[in-house]
Parts: sequence; C-alpha cells; structure tokens
Amino acid sequence: MTTEMERENFLKKAHYNPFLLTSEQVMIDFLTDSGTSAMSSNQWAGMMQGDESYAGAKSWLRMEKSIRDLTGFKYIFPTHQGRAAERILYGYLGGKGKVFISNTHFDTTRANIEFSGAEAFDIPIAEATNPSLDYPFKGNLDTEKLETLIKKHEAKNIGAVILTVTNNSGGGQPVSMKNAREVSRICKKHKVLFVLDCCRIAENAYFIRHKEKGFENKSYKEIAQEMFSLTDGAIMSAKKDALVNMGGFLALKNKDVADACKNLLIITEGFTTYGGLTGRDMEAIAIGLDEVFEDDYLHYRISSTTFLGDRLKKMGVPLMWPIGGHAVYIDAKEFYNHIPVHQYPGQALVCELYLKGGIRCVEIGSVMFGKYGAKGELIPAPMELARLAIPRRVYTQSHIEFVIEVFEKLLKHKKSVRGLKIIEEPKFLRHFTARFKKLV
Ligand code: F0G
Repeated sequence: MTTEMERENFLKKAHYNPFLLTSEQVMIDFLTDSGTSAMSSNQWAGMMQGDESYAGAKSWLRMEKSIRDLTGFKYIFPTHQGRAAERILYGYLGGKGKVFISNTHFDTTRANIEFSGAEAFDIPIAEATNPSLDYPFKGNLDTEKLETLIKKHEAKNIGAVILTVTNNSGGGQPVSMKNAREVSRICKKHKVLFVLDCCRIAENAYFIRHKEKGFENKSYKEIAQEMFSLTDGAIMSAKKDALVNMGGFLALKNKDVADACKNLLIITEGFTTYGGLTGRDMEAIAIGLDEVFEDDYLHYRISSTTFLGDRLKKMGVPLMWPIGGHAVYIDAKEFYNHIPVHQYPGQALVCELYLKGGIRCVEIGSVMFGKYGAKGELIPAPMELARLAIPRRVYTQSHIEFVIEVFEKLLKHKKSVRGLKIIEEPKFLRHFTARFKKLV
C-alpha cells in the first residue's frame, strides 16, 4: 500500500509514464493481461514434468499436439512470445512496397511490419470507432474496404490480411464468424494470405457462442477450430489465452512460407522443437490451451470483466461499449473532454488512476498510435482510450470494488486534471519509454 503523496513522487520519477514504475509501487496492476495470469495447479504440476532436451522434447510434442488439435495447421513453430512470431512471419512477408491490412494491428504487429519497410492499414468497421455505440461485433473488419485496398495495391503486394481476435487496440471487441468467413472468401478470391492473430481466441469464441446465431450449441473450442479453418496461418502470444507467463507460436498451412520461417526461427529464436521456450514452459502452454476453453473458466472470465464495466457505466464513466473480453476501455476523450487530443487525455487518465488509487493501466490512443505530419503536427489515433486490462485468475471482487471507488474520486474532480506533453520519445513503440511533462 502507498499513499497519494508517495505515488506523486513515484510518478514524477517515472516521467508520467506508468511503464517506468516498478511493480512494488503499484497496488492494482491493470497494465496488461499479457503474461500476468495465475497458472493453475495443473499447469504447475505439468511444469515439474518439463522435458528439457534440446531436440524432440516430450514437452514440445505435447505442445505441438495441442496446437495442431486446435488450429489444424501442419507447420507449427514455438516462439518465446507473440512478437517473435510476428518478427519472423512479417519480416519474411514484409519489406518495402508490401502492404498489410487488419481490423486493427496491435502495436507490436504494426511495429514489426513498419520495421520491415512495409505499410500497415487498419480498416475496422465504421461502428468500431464510436465508443458508446452498442453493436455486438465491433471488432469486425470492413470487408468492402478490404476489396478496395486489395485492388488498389494489387494482390501481389499484399503481405497478409490479419484478423486480430479479439480486437485489442480497437477496444477488445470480438469478431464474428460471419466476418471471418467473408474475409476468408475475399482473401481466397485474390489469393492473399489470411492470418489470424489469435491471442484471445477463446474470449472471442465466448462472444460468438452468446451473440451470433447458430453457435449456441457449439463448444468454445469448436468455434475456435472453425475460425482457424478459414485462415492460412495464425500467430499467438500464449501469454494471453494460453494462460502462461511466457510463450507463443506461429502456425502455418503453406510449406514454402513455413520453410522460410523455419530458417528465421532457428537463427533468431532456437531450434524448431523449443523456439525460445523451456520444456516446462511448453508443458504449461499445452495445459493452458485446454483449460482456457472450459465453460466455467470462460464464464468467470467474461463475467468479471463485464462486472467492472457495467458498474463504471452506471456511475457515468464513458467507456467502450459493449464490454470486451480482457479489459475495460475508458473513453478518455469524453471523460476529460476539456483536454485537447494533442495533450493526451488518455495519458492524463492513466496518471490520475495511478495517483488516486495506485492503479496502473495503459493509454491506447495518440500516445500509442499517434503519428506526426509533415509540419510536425500530431495526427491523432481514432480514439483516446485508457485500458484496464484484467489479468486472468488473479484479482478478487474486492479488488474490483476498490477500483470502482477510485473512479468515484476521479469523477468528482475531473475538471481540475490537465494534459501532458511528450518531452522524449523513441522512433518505434514510443509509449513504452516516452517521457512526459505535466501541463499546468
Ligand atoms: N497481438 C496482440 C493482439 C496482442 O495483444 C499482443 C500483445 C501481441 C500480438 C504481442 O504479443 O506481447 O507476446 O509479444 N499484447 C500485450 C498487451 C502486450 O498488453 O496487450 P507478445
């Protein structure tokens, strides 16, 4: 526990960027749901059986089997986390002149693509950028725009079409099976590679079963399997829906692409039967990928996120609606509507949450996705959000009640909060290390 005065000092030393705080300075850590899950007793028991052989470990065979059973793909490569799989696949498919299209590229996805010299286009449906609009599958990709973009840039220049489920940077919103089928149809028609960023595939399957007609009687795993069957490959950060602290994989249908990726994997991650992982990590992934599709687990998971979102909405906190799977996203542009976008209202809210309640979360707005125009002016992101990402199987209802009380405080003195200015930033992924100054 810390006092507000202590936190004021910590925040100043962290240059108003919560990524630069230490975990001991934080009381409730909603920075990310990635790698922060509590593993089950079964997963811990599995770790004791980790086979640490360099090649052909039993633990790898278990992990490979569980991924093949889920995805149906022939070529499966372990990586130490999601972005390593991104670097390998998009590094190979990318390069100058190449174009990638997604419902919304996650920050590391976009960075890996742009780092290769390629361009990344986000085409979420129009409903996606209206935070308060109630629409069941706001994570969907705009398929009309997809056709237009493929024609404009020519199919041969499209590195891949990437469907991110759920759509993390777009408010954690799910993608419908109908949309995935249509994206698949268009990609097949133009012979363009279709990749699923599947790190929250179980949560996405929950929404399909409960909101999309025709899936009521399917299991969550069957729904996920159907979605994989529409694609040519998948990238997963296992740190989310595989319920582990570290890990990832790349799974592919096409042999030529797989052969190229295999070379890059061995050069940069490790041999094909461990990637960047230990045998015990691979055991935990195999077990986590099973547990995450259990009915009771998913019911608990989505209900607890919804509980926080519902309560905040009732109090009048503007947020991304409906509530997605892994996080509650506050509409900071609306919450602090007196702070202009170039003074980063999302970052101001992130700082206030820490100051008043020791709660750490992340801005998903113009700090993360803003760009500079030719005259150095800020080209803002489509939304200014603060994301409260909920680690899996970690917090109890009383922790969540505490968070709600902190919001009550924030609502009371909204107007006194000021924006921020960036005083130092790196070229890529600036939100991780940027330094800010508080405006007065
Ligand atoms: N794709 C999506 C949709 C993600 O949310 C993430 C990570 C990655 C890829 C990269 O995976 O971290 O294992 O390298 N998201 C985390 C987050 C960091 O906080 O949302 P990674």
